[in-house]
Amino acid sequence: MELLYLLFSIVFTSFTTLILSLILPFHALLRRLVSSRASSSSSSDEAEPISLYEGTVYHQRRHPVHHSFQYRVRYALIDIDRAPHAPPNHLSPDEARRITGTNGTILLLTIPPSVGYEQNPLSVYYCYDVEESATCLKKCIAEVTNTPWAERVTFIFNPHSDLVAKALHVSPFMDMLGSWNIKASDPGDYLSISISVHHPEFGNYFTASLKAKKLHSSSASDHAVFFWLMPHKVAVWIYWHAIKLWWKNVQFIQHPRYATPTYRDEALIRDRNLQCCGFSAERENKKDCLSSEASPRDRWFRWIDAKWPWS
Ligand SMILES: *[C@@H]1O[C@H](CO)[C@@H](O)[C@H](O)[C@H]1NC(C)=O
Repeated sequence: MELLYLLFSIVFTSFTTLILSLILPFHALLRRLVSSRASSSSSSDEAEPISLYEGTVYHQRRHPVHHSFQYRVRYALIDIDRAPHAPPNHLSPDEARRITGTNGTILLLTIPPSVGYEQNPLSVYYCYDVEESATCLKKCIAEVTNTPWAERVTFIFNPHSDLVAKALHVSPFMDMLGSWNIKASDPGDYLSISISVHHPEFGNYFTASLKAKKLHSSSASDHAVFFWLMPHKVAVWIYWHAIKLWWKNVQFIQHPRYATPTYRDEALIRDRNLQCCGFSAERENKKDCLSSEASPRDRWFRWIDAKWPWS
């Protein structure tokens, strides 16, 4: 049943992709005509609400087999208060401010949908505070979505470095016991994000990172063209590397909702233990923006269930 659905959705997505891709050049042309007329009248110096980044995702697994790869990616960093159309299926800026207790800009790093298809293993919200003289990156929110289920977990983290209990079955080749050590730089001309998985038995056995460079908007004036097939490429990489891991005989692990239906509650408990006794004690006191929380509070997590037929 699920396999049939997967095949059907691949065929359906290919079909809509083809049709919408055929229309894309006409749309792009139309937009160029409209915008050339508009830009001749207005040329403001204000920063664009959307910045484009191009870079590389690296994955390295060190247990039970060595498997690493890298691929080129394109991301948008969107000021979601100011962008004319914020991407669907994400938090609103007010929600992000409420969750993080911040009062400034919210930037969302994500791969926008292309020709009707969205694929975002990780989106990150950068949440700033307005201080007297500057803005200051205070907190981040990660939004992790798994494939093919499209379940999602959203949680808050400290961008300087945080240790978060794994709360979503992201890959069928990993169990739920690890913790994620996650870091994100304040995005400027360059940005980087890294996540490594610390496992009680296998140690630090997996690292994923994104390093990207900001592009100057003139190099990609049409976002629909710039992101064309980007989500599709990500999906192909995910399935291709799943096949390779399966080929290398890495054990296939069932979704925890069958064996441990309480896995989300267990993640919350593991996370509380990590915050109280694990990592925060040894976390050095970084300068400027790091808030000094006296007592660890429960981390904010939110799960979104898989849709039919995966639910
Ligand atoms: C935003 O929050 C920070 C930290 O709580 C505070 O210092 C600052 O005054 C606030 N700014 C505004 C404009 O409310």
